[in-house]
Amino acid sequence: MMVAAREASLGPIHLGRLTVDAGRVPDGRTSYQVLSDVVAGQRRVLDLGCGDGHLLDLLAHAHPRRLAGTEPVAEPLSVARQRPALAGAALAVACPSALPFPDDSFDACVSHLALAQLSDLDRVAAELARVLAPEGVLAVVLPGGAVPGTAYEVFNDLTRSVLEEVPVDRRQPELGDRRARHRAGLEQVLGGAGFGQVDWRTIRLDLTGGLDQVWARMVEIYDLGPLDPAALATLRRCFDSTVTVLPDGRVPCAMNLHLAVAFAPGGFTA
Ligand SMILES: C[S@@+](CC[C@H](N)C(=O)[O-])C[C@H]1O[C@@H](n2cnc3c(N)ncnc32)[C@H](O)[C@@H]1O
Repeated sequence: MMVAAREASLGPIHLGRLTVDAGRVPDGRTSYQVLSDVVAGQRRVLDLGCGDGHLLDLLAHAHPRRLAGTEPVAEPLSVARQRPALAGAALAVACPSALPFPDDSFDACVSHLALAQLSDLDRVAAELARVLAPEGVLAVVLPGGAVPGTAYEVFNDLTRSVLEEVPVDRRQPELGDRRARHRAGLEQVLGGAGFGQVDWRTIRLDLTGGLDQVWARMVEIYDLGPLDPAALATLRRCFDSTVTVLPDGRVPCAMNLHLAVAFAPGGFTA
């Protein structure tokens, strides 16, 4: 497919918060609720890469607890700071490999669709082991790709062909450490920092909806800003003519997420 791109390079996968929050796992929860439930009962919780504070907000409403969140840039935190439930939370602009918290600050750390974008994962893991209490829980949601045969896969394939049209020097470098994409890789990273075995579950996140709704969700997931309007219109036409539309007008769409849970190193034993 021939498409034109504007001056800037195409953005990386964005994994828009609104799209992901619209999705449902098989038992009807959002992936944010899944993560919140994993750390139910934990009192001091850090959200690494907390974005606009949506997950922290859920955590604040679930139990009274001490919350903290970090982002590498200030802008998403300004949204998080406007949430009344987060008035007492420690929201910090911080590099995930140099967290501004003392040792043993948290009983749990959650991270929703952020860990897989980090490149210095070994240092991040060591930092998480430091700020977590002995045997504190680390629970992360990682992207697991399109569910085959759904509109998510169609969009992925079409977008990949768009990216192939963009000159290499204008493409965004791939983000993240590939080891965060599979259990053995994550276990290697976390094991190096003393974490125990990783409990790994793949969960389907259903994003099915009407054609316009599913298109809007897909566009929110990727940063397609650099595409010119004509290219975007071409992409949309290809999308409309390729996806499956059910007799009731709904378009099947789903992505996989991985839920990984591990425990921080224990305290010293005599
Ligand atoms: C898809 S957003 C997820 C935000 C939030 N956790 C959510 O799910 O709503 C990805 C997050 O990854 C984090 N991130 C991406 N690249 C990063 C980098 N190079 N250094 C630190 N954090 C980064 C940012 O915190 C960003 O908010």
